[in-house]
Amino acid sequence: MSELSTMILDRIRDVPDYPQPGVMFKDITPLLADPVAMAAVVDELAGLDEVDKIVGIEARGFILAAPVAYRASAGFVPVRKKGKLPAATLEESYDLEYGSATIEVHRDAFTPGDRVLIVDDVLATGGTAEAAVELVRRAGGLVVGIAVLMELAFLKGRERLDGIPVHSLVIV
Ligand code: PRP
Ligand code: MG
Repeated sequence: MSELSTMILDRIRDVPDYPQPGVMFKDITPLLADPVAMAAVVDELAGLDEVDKIVGIEARGFILAAPVAYRASAGFVPVRKKGKLPAATLEESYDLEYGSATIEVHRDAFTPGDRVLIVDDVLATGGTAEAAVELVRRAGGLVVGIAVLMELAFLKGRERLDGIPVHSLVIV
């Protein structure tokens, strides 16, 4: 395992039975609180691809995607939970490991052909990432990859993202 992967794993806390019984929540706040680890994570994600835009997925994806966009000299585009974006949007619904949700992006968020990296904290079932890919494509962007801090391999999210490079800094 790489030094970066170890640094990340050491700073992710397992919280049992949150937000409901039977779910093991991966809490990234210890990582966020460590400036050295965060800088290493942001630098790694910013160096993955040449892109025009970084998409962050509300809420935890925002925390990573905004500094990655700055570091990569790319624009930041928010994908938000339904009802939060003010201008005309496109929307996609999907199932989560627990519950369901609808996310949106502004229709004019991309210049046609923009190269886009989608950033989130966790890839679990892949429902969120799959919906985000669909949104970016419908809005005219070219998805060059999906980057996450942590992939929960047993939920097989990667299989729903066929043909899209998935970069996971840690796979558990
Ligand atoms: C969590 C996590 C990912 C998503 C992964 O978001 O941050 O975005 O679930 O799950 P999936 O691969 O099964 O779709 P969630 O919407 O639960 O919470 P957040 O708003 O705190 O990011
Ligand atoms: Mg999320």
